[in-house]
Amino acid sequence: MSPLERGSAASNPTSSWVAGHYTDVGSFVPALGAPVVDLLNPQHGEHILDLGCGDGALTQVIAERGATVVGIDASPDLVRTAQSRGLDARLGSGEHLEFDEEFDAVFSNAALHWMLDADAVVSGVVKALRPGGRFVVEMGGFGNIAAVLTALSASMEKHGYPGTSPGQFYPTVQQYDRIATAGGLIDFAGELILRPTPLESGMASWLRTFRQGFLDHHGVPPERQELVIADTVELLRPALCDVDGNWFADYVRLRFTARKPS
Ligand code: BEZ
Repeated sequence: MSPLERGSAASNPTSSWVAGHYTDVGSFVPALGAPVVDLLNPQHGEHILDLGCGDGALTQVIAERGATVVGIDASPDLVRTAQSRGLDARLGSGEHLEFDEEFDAVFSNAALHWMLDADAVVSGVVKALRPGGRFVVEMGGFGNIAAVLTALSASMEKHGYPGTSPGQFYPTVQQYDRIATAGGLIDFAGELILRPTPLESGMASWLRTFRQGFLDHHGVPPERQELVIADTVELLRPALCDVDGNWFADYVRLRFTARKPS
């Protein structure tokens, strides 16, 4: 059996993806990732690892700038989609990277918050980078989707699932700086960016796409999932839906760069 047939490489059980939903409802994720590709500034001929490449939309942008890119993701469905774009995408866990001084840069957009063992991620990144190589990241940061998580937790409790944990890691700048520095990276520079993000497909679709793994992991059967989602949407309406019916997600991004010593 090929690794893709064996199933998810994710060590985070709340991370579960259906490529079609992700590409439709989550198309804003790579679209909003353009600034972090600019920060990466990929050069012709560079060898770059896209850590948590998802469906490969940004991997492709980096490749089109002339770099040779390897994408890695824990979701078989997303890896297949990335491969169908003609990309070198591989199934693997960001907490168990097995590269050895191969890359000029490691890039990651909207993925590291799924990898709960950040020390293991940094350790694998440091090993994967050539001396002087750079680590360029955007991920959910401290306070990310706080309203969504609060409403979802209240709705879960109402439906008989109390005390659930979101299953994601949203660090402050200082927290990731400490982790990166302890892992051997230098020149850490980061910022938190408040980014209320329009959800063209609405909040219910966002929850179905991005919190499916969470609901499955907590044993919420499909017919109850819609009730949990409907109550979450109503709790969020005053905070995240404007007078014209437009929905936003209360995203906060942590964007940072660091590098391996030369
Ligand atoms: C995020 O990119 O911040 C995010 C994505 C899916 C679920 C929760 C947060």
